[in-house]
Amino acid sequence: MVAVSAARTPAPSEILKLYRRVREDSRTLGAPLSDADATVQSMPDASPAKWHLAHTTWFFEAMVLGPNVPGYRPFDDSFNYLFNSYYETIGERQPRPRRGMITRPHLDTVFAFREHVDEAVERLLSSDPSPEVTELVELGCHHEQQHQELLLTDILHLFAQSPLKPAYKDPQPLPVETGGREPVSFTAFDGGIFEIGHEGNGFHFDCEGPRHRALIEPFRLADRLVTNGEWIEFIRDGGYRDPLLWLSAGWGTVTARGWDKPLYWQERDGEFWTMTLRGAQPVDPNAPVTHVSYYEADAFATWSGRRLPTEFEWEHAAEGLSMDGNFADSGHLRPKPSPRRGEGLTQMFGDVWEWTRSQFSPYPRFKPVEGAVGEYNGKFMCNQFVLRGGSCATPGGHIRATYRNFFPPDARWQFSGLRLAEDA
Ligand SMILES: [Fe+2]
Repeated sequence: MVAVSAARTPAPSEILKLYRRVREDSRTLGAPLSDADATVQSMPDASPAKWHLAHTTWFFEAMVLGPNVPGYRPFDDSFNYLFNSYYETIGERQPRPRRGMITRPHLDTVFAFREHVDEAVERLLSSDPSPEVTELVELGCHHEQQHQELLLTDILHLFAQSPLKPAYKDPQPLPVETGGREPVSFTAFDGGIFEIGHEGNGFHFDCEGPRHRALIEPFRLADRLVTNGEWIEFIRDGGYRDPLLWLSAGWGTVTARGWDKPLYWQERDGEFWTMTLRGAQPVDPNAPVTHVSYYEADAFATWSGRRLPTEFEWEHAAEGLSMDGNFADSGHLRPKPSPRRGEGLTQMFGDVWEWTRSQFSPYPRFKPVEGAVGEYNGKFMCNQFVLRGGSCATPGGHIRATYRNFFPPDARWQFSGLRLAEDA
């Protein structure tokens, strides 16, 4: 991730452009929020928006400015404790479930912190920095984009707890697309030994490599995501009540937590509604299902007589496809129905993250880099599953065919859905 090679290191002027764009995007995302909106923490897994805006700034201060700018003065010495996420190398921190207790600093102060750091980073990038520094700033930009997505998913979770069901953006319901749903069709892929993982000069996170060979048996992959309409059939067929469809851990979870539909769904007079970033809206039967856990995705696949793809199958199928899709930049902020058929695989990028049946594990010869940034991904390679493709909350341009997102199998608050696969 930050292993430096002259061929790979981008020009500081390019990274300065990226830095300005990413930092401005975060400011835009935070603009609709009050200090109260940005302070409350709705559950231990979600962080307050204020924390996201400050933590991404702390990352530049702790990883880039402190170690590389002689005499750099932190904006506030207490912020190293408040806004460190999980870096043991850097020190003690506010416990994650108690980030909502950080009622001070005020949101305005967090924006002042951002400006303080922006000035210093821009000065550094304009002073012929080393390749190592340039790559660290680049990493910080991609890190901030990850938190931009989390800011949206965490605000959605927070607003969903309010009886008012407030909209983050444009409260008017979007029209539900009517019309028949076309049956899913499957695209066949030959088996063989294929190269998997990132290669080349572009930015990638460390867990996307090293590129290596993987054996893939012949398989077929659905040409679109599983829809809400199909999920309603699963519910009506008793899918949530049949233990034979579920993994043991999944059945334990679904029964203990009383799940009988995706997160945010409510039934009103026989109709399903869901909470979105545009407030409560009717469930669109043609749009992809989202906010389902790995356990639910796996049970649905079993009910369908199919299975989830492996991450290698997904990446092999996605390689070379256009990465156009419904990302956060579209402003839609919810998954959209698949375009018409006959174009091969659709919705591979954007709309919802796609659960795979692959555990988040290191690729062969993976080694975390030394130092604090070595804690970025490697230490999470246990008890999590890989999701691919990005979502309607992912910043455009952030995703790649090799991109590996990961969450525990009971996580539902991300825009997580599924695409079916089967053996050929
Ligand atoms: Fe972070």
